[in-house]
Amino acid sequence: METLVLKATQLDQAADFLKKGELVAFPTETVYGLGADATNEAAVKKVYAAKGRPSDNPLIVTVSSVSMVEKFVQPLSDEARHLIQQFWPGSLTMIFKLKPNALSKTVTGGLDTAAFRFPNNQTTLDLISKAGVPIVGPSANTSGKPSPTTAKHVYHDLNGKIAAIVDGGPTTVGVESTILDMSVDTPSILRPGAVTKEDIESVIHRPVIDELHHVGAKQTPKAPGMKYKHYAPAAQVYIVDPDDDWHDVVDWIKSHPQPVGVMAFDHVIKTINWPDNADVISLGSDAKSAAHDLFAELRDFDNHPEYKIIFTQGIDPEGIGEAYMNRLNKSAGQMHFKQL
Ligand code: TXA
Ligand code: MG
Repeated sequence: METLVLKATQLDQAADFLKKGELVAFPTETVYGLGADATNEAAVKKVYAAKGRPSDNPLIVTVSSVSMVEKFVQPLSDEARHLIQQFWPGSLTMIFKLKPNALSKTVTGGLDTAAFRFPNNQTTLDLISKAGVPIVGPSANTSGKPSPTTAKHVYHDLNGKIAAIVDGGPTTVGVESTILDMSVDTPSILRPGAVTKEDIESVIHRPVIDELHHVGAKQTPKAPGMKYKHYAPAAQVYIVDPDDDWHDVVDWIKSHPQPVGVMAFDHVIKTINWPDNADVISLGSDAKSAAHDLFAELRDFDNHPEYKIIFTQGIDPEGIGEAYMNRLNKSAGQMHFKQL
């Protein structure tokens, strides 16, 4: 059945679908999510099927009030409350210890914790309030593909597999939320996002662990989702590192007459005389615009199968640049221009 695309004014219809155990994709400030009633196990199971998601990968629980969280979790610490006060609604997802059997195994992947997110998007907060239940909210893409930042991206991946999409326009941040594990003694960042380590430390006044810098090649990442292949377009992405010379990239493109995709910052684009076989797309001027554009541009290249190679500009992993580089590294499967 064709998936309905609903406007933000049609939330009653969207909430009815959720109450009936159907799937509804929803906008957030980061990326679009795939919603189902988190308290309805049969509904949650459909999310895994629609996405083709491995079933041991737990889901984020999306809420529209702090009391919705308190229903399911052990008493919140003062630190957790401070972080909630500072960053909710917003792009900080927090993992808390659950009360026994508070949520089904289908949501938690069998863990005794769950990740909670309070998105900064009024349409979706209203939708959750109307549904009256928290909704699970993995990114609304086919597993492995770049996360969706427009309703169109969701439609492309999930048309016919879900009841509806609430179209809230393009997302503003473009990469998924920061995930902070608050269920352990020292809070630990499992996935970098727009809320940075420094932002968090300035609220709780003690160092937090950046798990990315602790995960060795052989260890299993603590966020189960981090171990899967991710964000991969059909073409092979190669990272052009800050110490690479773009003239070498141009020489490579000139000596290989196939069409090549390039994603770079304005200051690089304008200094180079690009050969005709290069399709050059801007990442804007800074890490913020790059994070915003990355997934959408990778998806655009997927519409053009003639591109087998995309060169994408890497940056220093500072601020939201860490989230950008984290996602870019996964898209590229760690491949760099230097390796060509
Ligand atoms: O910005 C976002 O967070 C988006 C929007 C839609 O809200 N959602 C999102 O969900 O990115 P998803 O499912 O694509 O990513 C959630 C990540 C996965 O890597 C999962 O393994 C991890 O969070 N996760 C969920 N629950 C966890 C838990 N209890 N412990 C550790 N990791 C958990
Ligand atoms: Mg995802």
